[in-house]
Amino acid sequence: MTTTPHWALPLPAFSPLDQDTQADVVVVGAGIVGVTTAYLLACAGRQVVLLERDEVGSGETARTSAQLTASLDFRYFELAAFHGEERTREIARSHTAAIGEIERIAREEGIACEFMRMPGFLFAPPEQSGDLTREGEAMRAAGLDVRMVEPPAGTRNLGPCLRLEHQAAFHPLKYLRGLVLAAQRRGVRVYTHSPVTAYDKHEVVTEGGARVRAAQVVLATNVPVADRVKFSFRLEPYRTYLVALELTGPLEQAHYWDTLDPYHYVRPVGPLLLVGGEDHGVGRADDAEERYERLETWARERFPVGQRREVWSGQVENTPDGLAYIGESGGVFVATGDVGNGLTHGTIAAGLIRDLIQGRANPWAELYDPNRLPRGNRSHWLKEGVSAAAYLGEWVTPGDDLRDLAPGEGTVVRRGLRKLAVYRDEEGQEHVRSALCSHLGCVVHWNSGEKSWDCPCHGSRFSPLGKVLHGPAREDLASGVDEA
Ligand code: FES
Repeated sequence: MTTTPHWALPLPAFSPLDQDTQADVVVVGAGIVGVTTAYLLACAGRQVVLLERDEVGSGETARTSAQLTASLDFRYFELAAFHGEERTREIARSHTAAIGEIERIAREEGIACEFMRMPGFLFAPPEQSGDLTREGEAMRAAGLDVRMVEPPAGTRNLGPCLRLEHQAAFHPLKYLRGLVLAAQRRGVRVYTHSPVTAYDKHEVVTEGGARVRAAQVVLATNVPVADRVKFSFRLEPYRTYLVALELTGPLEQAHYWDTLDPYHYVRPVGPLLLVGGEDHGVGRADDAEERYERLETWARERFPVGQRREVWSGQVENTPDGLAYIGESGGVFVATGDVGNGLTHGTIAAGLIRDLIQGRANPWAELYDPNRLPRGNRSHWLKEGVSAAAYLGEWVTPGDDLRDLAPGEGTVVRRGLRKLAVYRDEEGQEHVRSALCSHLGCVVHWNSGEKSWDCPCHGSRFSPLGKVLHGPAREDLASGVDEA
């Protein structure tokens, strides 16, 4: 069983695209980026076709903790070092504006998505209190409303905190449901179960053979579908884990983050406390239950929590300088590299792409330019690249034995010179695919927490039977049955 995120709910069903059509703009991907882009373009008078491989909201939008915040994965003092002070002020402004844009759209479209304003608390262990002071100064310099406070009531062992005002939270799938219906009312034609198998600057082709001709193509697929080198080598894919625990005492409605690496993120939702963190590189660990337990232990030491109710994991695409890549690249429009703030980055992307297509100036076009060179953390980027390259040679190493493979699990085995991904279903039947990722040929690893094959090189993921779940891979794992 794959895990089910807390936000899961039925979204409107749409038909697959079954005949050729045309539009001003075709948007590929119906998560927060794609639906918001389609909606904003329709509001601007454009004819839009929105295509989705699976269902609306079936990707990473549902797998977040749904925090809407200008507090980012990178600390503001790091961002200032990478991007300079003026750009860092614009980073803070853009995320703050994205929160306001979601609030505006929800209000104007009457979307009941539990949008709520709340503060956020950033706290650090005693040995990092100097970093907290530095971060407070950097946040203030970036224009954020922040001050040092005592830990809020109901918490323990947090130490000094920075309190950041004017943040927000919502229910991401209730928002997406309202937004896709609003987009449809404004003329957007939505097609689901329509995977895109090829595209160029003015046309996309779906798996069923139907084509969409358009003046502009927008790839809103988390990682651009079929990307080989342009973005894959500038993204660092991570799995992140979440547990929902019963709240057993009063706690201020707020976001809570620490400064550990990897860090923890927390928010109350009704009777539950969502606790996230324990990130690791995609395909580089398979110990989900231990990570859920560590999250639970960490939370128990700091918050009033009881029983565990839900667990799930999601995927984050980091960039070396902490900002998404948004804009025109190679003749198509892209938005990728959520860096753990996919809901605000996604909303920034939608407005920016709308403006670029409309020929309007946007204050953040240069900031998020997808063709920029890394502005800061180049040594970290190089280190990640070297580490990904190490996995490219993994096909020559031995694989596991099939004898101990339990029903519902998968493993990689070696047969001669081939590596095979073998999944044994609940009935005991084996399903054999090539273990070489269809993107650039790294060996995939089994993820027992989500029941998927995950690629450690650039983060592609595949179902137990080898179907693509997450790009950049476009094609399923090749058949391996002849070699089994
Ligand atoms: Fe690039 Fe697998 S995602 S080789």
